[in-house]
Amino acid sequence: MAFTIKKICCIGAGYVGGPTMSVIAQQCPDIQITLVDMNTERIAAWNNPDLDQLPIYEPGLSDIVAEARGRNLFFSTDVEKAIEEADMIFISVNTPTKNYGKGKGMAADLKYIELCARQIADVATSDKIVVEKSTLPVRTAAALKSILHNTGSSVNFHILSNPEFLAEGTAIQDLLNPDRVLIGGENKEAIQALVDIYAGWVDKDRILTTNLWSSELSKLTANAFLAQRVSSINSISELCEKTGADVQEVAKAIGMDTRIGSKFLKASVGFGGSCFQKDILNLVYIARSYNLQEVADYWEQVILMNNHQKQRFADNIIQTLFNTVNGKKIAILGWAFKKDTNDTRESAAIYVADHLLNEQADIHVYDPKVPAEKVFVDLEYLNSRPDAETRRLASVSEDPYEACKDAHAIAILTEWDEFKTYDWARIKRNMKSPSFIFDGRKLLDRAQLEELGFVYYAIGE
Ligand code: NAD
Ligand code: UDX
Repeated sequence: MAFTIKKICCIGAGYVGGPTMSVIAQQCPDIQITLVDMNTERIAAWNNPDLDQLPIYEPGLSDIVAEARGRNLFFSTDVEKAIEEADMIFISVNTPTKNYGKGKGMAADLKYIELCARQIADVATSDKIVVEKSTLPVRTAAALKSILHNTGSSVNFHILSNPEFLAEGTAIQDLLNPDRVLIGGENKEAIQALVDIYAGWVDKDRILTTNLWSSELSKLTANAFLAQRVSSINSISELCEKTGADVQEVAKAIGMDTRIGSKFLKASVGFGGSCFQKDILNLVYIARSYNLQEVADYWEQVILMNNHQKQRFADNIIQTLFNTVNGKKIAILGWAFKKDTNDTRESAAIYVADHLLNEQADIHVYDPKVPAEKVFVDLEYLNSRPDAETRRLASVSEDPYEACKDAHAIAILTEWDEFKTYDWARIKRNMKSPSFIFDGRKLLDRAQLEELGFVYYAIGE
């Protein structure tokens, strides 16, 4: 029996649910989409008439929301109503690393997923296709199936896995032009119903269908491979700094080999974001749970290398500033984990700043999209010192020139384009001498800065 999808509900109006459903709503005006979340503030922000106040910053997102909101795209906190009415339910809730109990610090915390499944089981009175949009450990669908199929009612549930590959900062482009859409499942008609939705704007040969487990595991694997490339080039960056090789030249040279490819070879202060670390830790945990020690150790190294890169960047600042940063003002330009997003989850900036605060540095942060309070919350979450001390040592500026004024050093931690256009001569004039720049993104021009009198360090040079 073919399924007709008229109404979609998506549970979780976050960085994935929000942009993904906005694009589906834009591309499929005949389908009514309701995004629900238990976070009332977030839903209120999605409904804010002022599009600058949407809870997520993504280039192109506000135009799409403006087009579809109120037409066939709705945001609500009434989770039960949306579930009840929907033909297809996407689960797009967070799956963070567990911070308690068995698997603490490694396994994915599936409590939000399970809550969704139970809520769907409780509320549904008609057949539903349930789509895993969150990134999940392989075989999670088996648990969902067990919860949904043991309700005692006559409702049928079909479970699909449809992991999301969008990257933040380019989410809208990634959704409009995906390299591939992956759909795993068992029921052919249910798979076809989801294929038909994407086929509205995605080439059919880019829509891949697999079994459930391949789909679930492909998502963790894709993130592990991507992060591995960053850790690989970052490991070489350290060798470059010792040998006189230049990591950008090395990356270009190896990237021109079509077997290697040129993308994701940008050495940095370390990868951040809500996905890479969490998903690799989860992969490592899964491998260990099957007693595959070598597999687990292999992937764990990607994380260890990333931690090392953040640590050595901060250590280099301290060492270069004559082995003490106590009481010295250090400007941090960029707090988001990459440019064009306001997301700071696992941002390298947090760890570099924390390390400097441990040395009693006086840090001043500027980021074009991250609110001041978020910076403090991120630092306080690490629990490295009393909150009052963090707030005494750290401050956030709304103006980059203020952040850099009288600083001993500037650390560039996010590759925001606007940093390239600053009046660096003005910044130099107002800094202490010697004026150090530590470029964790290799964003700025060495020759220009040295000409102005800066002492310039970049990753991998
Ligand atoms: P997020 O934290 O931004 O959003 C998740 C939302 O789900 C939150 O707003 C939360 O309030 C809501 N929620 C949780 N449980 C709920 C419940 N029972 N009922 C209603 N609402 C509930 O997370 P995100 O970044 O959108 O990630 C979601 C999933 O997508 C994760 O599994 C993540 O790994 C995966 N993913 C994320 C990205 C990314 O770039 N952020 C990319 C691909 C995949
Ligand atoms: C990642 C995956 O790319 C995406 O497919 C998945 O759906 C979610 O996780 P995201 O974390 O949003 O996306 O951004 P991404 O562009 O992958 O960058 C992750 C981190 O790696 C950032 O901190 C970025 O600055 C860093 N990075 C990326 C590098 O340091 N060098 C690179 O060459 C690429």
